[in-house]
Amino acid sequence: MSTIRIAPSLLSADFTDIKGEIKRVEDVGVNILHVDVMDGHFVPNITLGPFIVDAIHRTARSELDVHLMIEKPDTYLERFIKAGADYVTFHVEAVDEAKALVEKTKSLGVKGGVAINPATSLEQATPVFEVADLILMMTVNPGFGGQAFIREVVPKIRALYELKQSKGYTFEIEVDGGVAVDTAPITAWAGADILVAGASVFKTPDPPAAIKAIAQAAQEGLAQRSDPKAFSPG
Ligand code: DX5
Ligand code: ZN
Repeated sequence: MSTIRIAPSLLSADFTDIKGEIKRVEDVGVNILHVDVMDGHFVPNITLGPFIVDAIHRTARSELDVHLMIEKPDTYLERFIKAGADYVTFHVEAVDEAKALVEKTKSLGVKGGVAINPATSLEQATPVFEVADLILMMTVNPGFGGQAFIREVVPKIRALYELKQSKGYTFEIEVDGGVAVDTAPITAWAGADILVAGASVFKTPDPPAAIKAIAQAAQEGLAQRSDPKAFSPG
């Protein structure tokens, strides 16, 4: 059985000690870090740009999973890749030609994909599936860390997983928003390969212990994936 990776979201980390925060989670096996880029337009919050991604890149050993919650992602794509992104996802709601932009992302030498908001249908992203390396399923409305997991998205994650199996798509499925020990099992069962976890890691007194607990909960859900009725989604 494969292993589900936990991608800590640095949005909830203490940026006065970002080097230490990264080291502590990498020391317990984390090899992918989620970096949330917000522009104050696509979402009502502003976070960080390529300059900070570059600083994170210089201190991290992990792959950097850069989640662009911005308008006009095509304008900024190359700057984030130069700064050290290994994965770049932009929102399918933010562009007209998502497939072409994923192809451009991949042609620049990194893994590319799209993020899908809770209210957006899989159909809107369908053209991307055959070229994407990653599909990022939002289980909160993007903009802030620490929000509650929207359980109604689970059937959509399961549907994406079943579509992937039936069509032989090769993308990884990543789930972002409200993932914690209690929500990791159903998310893993539904089809996630990567779980983003922000507040449930960095807003706890012991982030390494939180990572281990979420990873274990995820493996328990994964063990039941072949049983379509193990959890009742929605
Ligand atoms: C929300 C971001 C998430 C956020 C997740 O807009 O895309 O990556 O950091 O944080 P938690 O895990 O606290 O919901
Ligand atoms: Zn994110």
